[in-house]
Amino acid sequence: MPDWWQDAVGYEVYIRSFADGDGDGIGDLQGLRRRLGHLADLGVDVVWITPFYPSPQADHGYDVADYLDVDPSFGTLEDLDAVVAEAHGLGLKVMIDLVPNHTSDRHPWFLDARASHHAAHRDWYVWRDPAPGGGPPNNWVSHFGGPAWTFDEATGQYYLHLFLPEQPDLNWAHPEVRAAFDRILEFWLDRGVDGFRIDVAHSLVKDPELRDNPLLGDAPAPDATPQEVFAAYDHRHDLDQPGVVDIYRRWGEIARRHDAVLLGEVYLLDPARLSRYVDDALDSAFCFPALKTGWDADEIRRMLAACVAAGASGMSWPLSSHDDPRAASRFGGGARGSRRALAYLGLLAGLPGVPFLLQGDELGLDDGDTAGANHDPIAVRNPGAVGRDGSRTPMLWEPGEGFGFTTGEPWLPFGTNRADEHTAAVQAADPDSHLNRVRRLLDARREVAAVAQGAEVRWLEAGEAVIAFQRGPVVVACHLGEGTARVALPAAGGLLHATADGAAVDDATLRLPSDATAYVRLPG
Ligand code: NOJ
Repeated sequence: MPDWWQDAVGYEVYIRSFADGDGDGIGDLQGLRRRLGHLADLGVDVVWITPFYPSPQADHGYDVADYLDVDPSFGTLEDLDAVVAEAHGLGLKVMIDLVPNHTSDRHPWFLDARASHHAAHRDWYVWRDPAPGGGPPNNWVSHFGGPAWTFDEATGQYYLHLFLPEQPDLNWAHPEVRAAFDRILEFWLDRGVDGFRIDVAHSLVKDPELRDNPLLGDAPAPDATPQEVFAAYDHRHDLDQPGVVDIYRRWGEIARRHDAVLLGEVYLLDPARLSRYVDDALDSAFCFPALKTGWDADEIRRMLAACVAAGASGMSWPLSSHDDPRAASRFGGGARGSRRALAYLGLLAGLPGVPFLLQGDELGLDDGDTAGANHDPIAVRNPGAVGRDGSRTPMLWEPGEGFGFTTGEPWLPFGTNRADEHTAAVQAADPDSHLNRVRRLLDARREVAAVAQGAEVRWLEAGEAVIAFQRGPVVVACHLGEGTARVALPAAGGLLHATADGAAVDDATLRLPSDATAYVRLPG
């Protein structure tokens, strides 16, 4: 793992909603370039930009039609070069999103593949005859609803897509697919990017026999949501297959030559299954169980213990993501949800590994209710299903129409978050704002990382409502209960930082208010 990655703090730029430079209502690279100063001031080290490639946008960019260019709605290759150069000048690293599990159905590879059985790219995708008697070749389901197979009339076969029919899965058993991606990695690394966030990193390899996934219990009800249908199966044949890590070992050789990082979107909710990815294949994997808990000390404590045991320094800890409700919403919403989200960030940032904020987390935003303006294909295509638009609402930069995000009509409404006091500009001027508290937390975290370097996590017994651990000479404690907790420290220490007012250390006791995290420095 490159040195620069160790102890870094990450930040997700959801490009469509970050900053619009040309007034068309869609965030873009020029807009991002103008706002890089905000990220440097915030104290993050690494910026991950979601896909900006040419794309029909069936899944907002995760349907790539050309891996080696920029979609005109986001800018040009030169704009990307400028973002990378300016970010580097500010001391920021830039990671881009690599989408290797599937392409767009408009990618020239797929257009060729579907042209005939003998096309040069036919086997770059997964084609199968209908099952005996007709119907899809197996029982796999798409994450986004319906079967994972679509019938192609022209050639009389089905093709596989774990997501939308517009996102056909590549066949990673094919050596030419592997070689093509080696070239894609080299292309971007030569342009100066510092690494890749790898989309659907757990699913590239499929069972060669394409066997059915067993049901875990009853068959899903006819009106079940795509998420419920997906959860009804034991996905033993369509994800987390044995050979998948070999791909990342191969990419690791390329990445190492460029001092670049590989960060996997390994969406497995059993932490033990993450180890295989971070042991010697990926530099880091997002730890998604961290995005799934409510504000419950026992639940979070057990989850974190299991994730740390799976390899803490290989984890990236997402506070929020563009696919899930924001932390502030998961923890109750409003001012209380924001305060808890900050405390949770403090907890995650105290661990080894890399904490990741989603844009807007630094403003304490919860999921803006977008009042039925559905854009996410999950919601558009599955009546009754909850989509992902809530965590994708545009950034609030400054008061005024368009909130400094756009001079045009935003592609997605600001939702219930639209308020001057939530903007970055207003918060920057208030020392007690969420934004300034996040800045101070990230400053303190740098100090923690410096003194705790390499130290293992030792969990401390601190009562039911408090999660506490020690790393070298630092104690991290988070209080999820009511009132003020009194936490017995292993030794007398000094308060380094707290996410809320009212924390204090007297001798070997930490007094910690509700919904807050503190860092305490012990002697040594
Ligand atoms: C994970 C991405 O984060 C999500 O937004 C996308 O829909 C799926 N992968 C499919 O690419």
